[in-house]
Amino acid sequence: MSSSATSRPTALYGGQTGRRVTVRDVAAAKERGEKWPMVTAYDAMTARIFDEAGIPVLLVGDSAAMVVYGYDSTLPVSVDDLMPLTAAVVRGSSRAMVVADLPFGSYQASPQQALETAVRFMKEAGAHAVKLEGGRRVLPQVEALVSAGIPVMAHLGLTPQSVNVFGGYRVQGRGQSGDELMADAKDLEAAGAFAVVLECVPTDLAERVTTSLSIPTIGIGAGPSTDAQVLVWQDLMGLTERPAKFVKKYFNLAEEMDRAVRSFAGEVAGGAFPTPEHSYH
Ligand code: KIV
Repeated sequence: MSSSATSRPTALYGGQTGRRVTVRDVAAAKERGEKWPMVTAYDAMTARIFDEAGIPVLLVGDSAAMVVYGYDSTLPVSVDDLMPLTAAVVRGSSRAMVVADLPFGSYQASPQQALETAVRFMKEAGAHAVKLEGGRRVLPQVEALVSAGIPVMAHLGLTPQSVNVFGGYRVQGRGQSGDELMADAKDLEAAGAFAVVLECVPTDLAERVTTSLSIPTIGIGAGPSTDAQVLVWQDLMGLTERPAKFVKKYFNLAEEMDRAVRSFAGEVAGGAFPTPEHSYH
C-alpha cells in the first residue's frame, strides 16, 4: 500500500501503513464495523513489540501509578511521572497512535489547566491524543482541547480517579445511572471526543452506548459489543497478582520470569554462568 500522506490503512489492527494511525482511521474502522485492540504501554521496548504486532492505539495509562510506580491507586501519579513514559512509548513505536492519560489533578480545575497539561504531553512527549476521565462535568475541558486541535479520548463508567467517590472498584451504570452514563456519552461525542472508554459497565448498557454513538467505544469489563477492547499489558501477560474478573490472561509472564531469574541466579551461584561463549577473549 502507498505510504503517501493521504493513504488509509486497509485495517486498523495490523494494517500496514507508512504513517501513524489517526483519529480518521479510528472513525473509519467504526464505519466499516472493524473491531480493534488497544493496550497500555509505558516504555519503548514493549511499545515496539505491540506496535510491530499491529496494535493501532497505545495508551500510556495513569495505571502506570500502580503497574510502574507501585502505588495502590492511580491518584498519586503526576504529569512529570507520566511524561517520560509517554515520550518513551512514542520513540518505541512508529505506527500506533499514542494516547497520553491526563493524571488526577491535572485537568479537573479548569479548561485552561486541561489545555496546559495536554499541550505539555503533545509538545514535550510527542503524544498524538489525550485521555481524560468523566462525563458532563469535564465537557468544558473536552471542548477547550478539541478546539485547540487536540484529539480527546473520553472515559466513563468505573473511572479509577474517582475511586473514593465510588467507594471501591465496582461496576458502574446499573439501573438509572445507566441513563446518566448514556447522556454523558452523547454529550462527550457532541463536545468532539473521538472515542470513549467504557470501564466496568453492564454488557447491555455498553451495547446501547455503542450503537447510539458514531464514535468508537473501547471496552474494559464492558462485554463484547464495544467497537474496541483495551487491557493493561501486565494484566493480559499474566504479571498482575490479582487481576479483575474482566481480565483474560494470555500468558504467564510472572511464572516465566520467575523461572528465568532463578535459572540465572542458580548458574551464577554454581559457576555455570558465564561460559567462554558469553566471555570476551
Ligand atoms: O490507565 C489506564 O490504563 C486506563 C485503561 C485501563 C483504560 O485508563
